[in-house]
Amino acid sequence: MMRGLSVLVGLFISATAFAQNPAALQERLKSIAADPVALRAAVDSGKKVTFFCANCHGEDGISKTPDVPNLAGQNPAYLLEQIRKFGSGERKDAFMQGLIKVLKDDERVQAAAYYASIPVPPSRADASLAARGKELYSRNCVRCHGEQARGNELYPRLAGQKVPYLQTSITRYRDGTGIRNNQLMAIATGNLKNEEIVAVANYLTQLP
Ligand code: HEC
Ligand code: HEC
Repeated sequence: MMRGLSVLVGLFISATAFAQNPAALQERLKSIAADPVALRAAVDSGKKVTFFCANCHGEDGISKTPDVPNLAGQNPAYLLEQIRKFGSGERKDAFMQGLIKVLKDDERVQAAAYYASIPVPPSRADASLAARGKELYSRNCVRCHGEQARGNELYPRLAGQKVPYLQTSITRYRDGTGIRNNQLMAIATGNLKNEEIVAVANYLTQLP
């Protein structure tokens, strides 16, 4: 009993000691990314610290479950930011909010570097929906997420993501459910009808 308690207290102290402000952590990620040797080491460690994430996000970050996102190929700064948001409760998910607490700051950076380093293959889509989705994407989304939907430090990659996950995420932003809020996304999706969201998701999933 006492031993269990002291382990718990120890965990708490080390978690507090490691906690850094989010900007400092993003800076650390950036400096690692700029150094090939440090990046290689972070990617290797990232694979180890994410072994149990694979249960849901799949081997190498390609999810086998439709409503669980691929993490492979995603922008590392975005991944790190979402990990922070789950940790703080700004982004809500029953599993993720609890699970993410096991990762220390360094491990969060390593996990982001690891997943970002893996290529994500395109998925199959309905061709006519995808054609309609392309028009909608060009009009409403391209200026932030980019011509090929590969995103950047500020905006997530959407290319190759799962249709059901895309659909759910876009709908949540539009509806302002509180599960996931973003002002820019609320405005960009405000006028989309449900069937237009399905079309955009079909377009995005088949992009390489
Ligand atoms: C029990 C299943 C499960 C496990 C295990 C799990 N995740 Fe998740 N993860 C999810 C689900 C479901 C979502 C999508 C939540 C939503 O709909 O917003 C998600 C979302 C994410 C996202 C956001 C991706 C995006 O595109 O915005 C990141 C980053 C992430 N998980 C990282 C991790 C890491 C790192 C681990 C291991 C420490 C992990 N997850 C373990 C189920 C899981
Ligand atoms: C003004 C810039 C902007 C525009 C325009 C925009 N987005 Fe976004 N989008 C963002 C930002 C910023 C985020 C990350 C928000 C967050 O942290 O939750 C995001 C996140 C997303 C996500 C979540 C990705 C993930 O992995 O969970 C999806 C899906 C998405 N956008 C789709 C779209 C679609 C579809 C459109 C067009 C209808 C669009 N976005 C237009 C800025 C934009």
